Amino acid sequence: MLTNFWYAVEFSDEITSTPKRIKVLDQDLVIYRTDTQQIVAMQDLCTHRGAALSGGRTKGECIVCPYHGWEYQADGTCVNIPANSPDTPIPYRAKVKVYDAQEKYGWVWLFMGDRPESERIPIPELPNFDDAKLKSIHGDFLWHTHYSRVIENLLDVAHVPFVHAGAFGDKERPQIAEFTVENYPTGAGATVMVNASPPKGIWGFLASKQPSVVKTRTAFFLPNITVLEVHLVFGRLLVYNAHVPIDDQTTVSKWINLRSFFNGNWADADARKRVLKVFNQDKAIVESQRPQIVPYDLNAELHVQSDALQVEYRKMRRQFFV
Ligand code: FES
Ligand code: CO
Repeated sequence: MLTNFWYAVEFSDEITSTPKRIKVLDQDLVIYRTDTQQIVAMQDLCTHRGAALSGGRTKGECIVCPYHGWEYQADGTCVNIPANSPDTPIPYRAKVKVYDAQEKYGWVWLFMGDRPESERIPIPELPNFDDAKLKSIHGDFLWHTHYSRVIENLLDVAHVPFVHAGAFGDKERPQIAEFTVENYPTGAGATVMVNASPPKGIWGFLASKQPSVVKTRTAFFLPNITVLEVHLVFGRLLVYNAHVPIDDQTTVSKWINLRSFFNGNWADADARKRVLKVFNQDKAIVESQRPQIVPYDLNAELHVQSDALQVEYRKMRRQFFV
């Protein structure tokens, strides 16, 4: 597992003072916002009798267990056991494991590893989020497979003419032009010229001058971010994905889509429809891949030139694996 990384796990606007249960890396967590807007993420397990804290409520910075009302403060320490007389000491072991949380780019990020703060790999820089002119929508999409396969699908340009023919790819021109992989400290990216079919519908009309080759940039940042940037004739489209590993067979991609063109609700709805259409075209194939987890052995599957970015992902995953 890639343990010593910040994982983007949820959208910021999903976290309120009402406790929410989430599952990340096969662990049940409760996540909530304190009265001072701090995000708290802790194991969803009361130390008393194992009830889920997410069934309880918040009280200032604390979360109150729904079963017997034990109160845990933001660092996980129990500070009140209502059934005891007030002068009874609280057991030392009445402490729930808490994970460090941060908010950035509209996501909540959790650190579930064991490295001290000073030695942690920072959250990647995603510069487009600073651009107030870009319009933003977000949503999520569930896949029944390991998140490594979902990440590789986003890095894979050679499937576009086959899986997305008509929506974007041109099935008559499946060849992928040579490209160079750029390396970043914990990721890599590539600019790839993709042979595109003219889009249909209203965009097809507006994009009738769409060039038949579209410039795209694809990148990943460990452990769970992908970026896809498409240069269309009417502007730029950026699809950021946080591929949240729920467990070894389940991934939820929490996507944020930024675009430089078209205002208004109709454009948001249209963009949402297009993102989901593309993911739906990928879904059955990605879920059919075996093994469900991308192999750590570089020789386990065959690679061709157009797989260069995926090969880089595999190498880096192996490098940081613990
Ligand atoms: Fe949580 Fe008893 S199980 S207070
Ligand atoms: Co696809």
